[in-house]
Amino acid sequence: MSQPTFRAPKGTFDLVPPRGDAILAVRDAMAAPLRAAGYGYIETPSFEQTALFARGVGESTDIVTKEMYSFTTRGGDDVTLRPEGTAPVLRAVLENGLHRGALPVKLWYSGSYYRYERPQKGRYRHFSQVGAEVLGSDDAAVDAELIVLAVDAYKALGLNDVRVLINSLGSHESRPAYRDALQRFLRGLDLDDETAKRVEINPLRVLDDKRPEIQKALEDAPVVVDFLSEADRAHHDKVRALLTDAGIEYEDDPRLVRGLDYYTRTLFEFVHDGLGSQSAVGGGGRYDGLSELLGGPRLPGVGWALGADRTLLAMEAEGLALPEPPGVTVYVVPLGEAAERRAFGLVTQLRRTGVATDVALGGRGLKGAMKAADRSGARYALILGERDLAGGVAQIKELATGEQSAVNLDEVVAQLAGRTGAG
Ligand code: HAM
Repeated sequence: MSQPTFRAPKGTFDLVPPRGDAILAVRDAMAAPLRAAGYGYIETPSFEQTALFARGVGESTDIVTKEMYSFTTRGGDDVTLRPEGTAPVLRAVLENGLHRGALPVKLWYSGSYYRYERPQKGRYRHFSQVGAEVLGSDDAAVDAELIVLAVDAYKALGLNDVRVLINSLGSHESRPAYRDALQRFLRGLDLDDETAKRVEINPLRVLDDKRPEIQKALEDAPVVVDFLSEADRAHHDKVRALLTDAGIEYEDDPRLVRGLDYYTRTLFEFVHDGLGSQSAVGGGGRYDGLSELLGGPRLPGVGWALGADRTLLAMEAEGLALPEPPGVTVYVVPLGEAAERRAFGLVTQLRRTGVATDVALGGRGLKGAMKAADRSGARYALILGERDLAGGVAQIKELATGEQSAVNLDEVVAQLAGRTGAG
């Protein structure tokens, strides 16, 4: 067999049926709890000014220093394919003045994101997220609500082994004292040059270093929860208490940090142990200072993004049956040219009546067409033979039982709509 000339770029993949339908169902399941909780849908462009991410996500993060797809347009603008959704959503909220209406603004989104990462299982250069952001409230109840909605989405997909990790990074009130203490501790370790540099620029990032020798050395590192101000602690305790009230099992992880610099206070991650090293199926947190950083007014925020691709992998790891395409209810089998012509009109009518219908095309014989009808999963085959047509009837065959009856052509659509509960 000859090799195709073109392939999907490295780190990307196609989602073809039935996996394509499965990912759609995953995204729907993630969005459903949000839509039922008063979140409105927002869509922003796939690319933004590069400076939005540099400033919003953080100049010293891996995302900004190593992973952005950035380019200069023909018109000379520096733009970047979005590596994440929070900075763009906040940009759009400020630009459209949503924050001047009723607060909080509750939004959800779904789309493609791009990071130039080293590809491996669960880590791609093009991936999809469903996300939620709530702007304009510093109530801990919002943080807890978001965590509950994500847990409900995973549950709706049948996942049992998603763990919820939570931590607090404190606000700008608590952070300097912690940063100092952490830096003091880290400077006492024997670190390579690059890591030592990171200690000075962004010491929290060092906690995210996955190398076992570093993790070992960090065992005695100070943890941020010991440095929380009274207000930060009260916020954190309220989030935890509400989660407990809601029956959500969570794990306090005082070493949890995430790869984006905008977080303050609540930080959380959803992990699945069946995925190997790329175990985070979703994550998020509060970002009370991001609006000011982007030139906006004080506008506290909290949100999350769930990775649809990794969630699908998690479902496979748990051995769950992947959601299937909805399929059709009726499969039309026309035999001969005149029947095909008549069938075209019937198919259109059936579909418009709300009966999911497919049809054998291209003059297939009875045997091949009936096989296709079985494969389609339809409940009924509607067979139009030459002789039926001449007599003004068609045959409705119930595929499971083989039971067949002739029905007047004029009544076929109403009959099938009635039998299938459509119309
Ligand atoms: P994030 O942790 O970078 O957060 O991404 C969220 C989720 O997207 C991850 O947990 C993972 O499931 C998925 N993901 C990230 N990178 C990849 C990749 N290269 N391949 C496959 N899946 C990936 C954010 O993006 C924040 N904007 C979340 C947030 C919203 N925080 C506050 N609001």
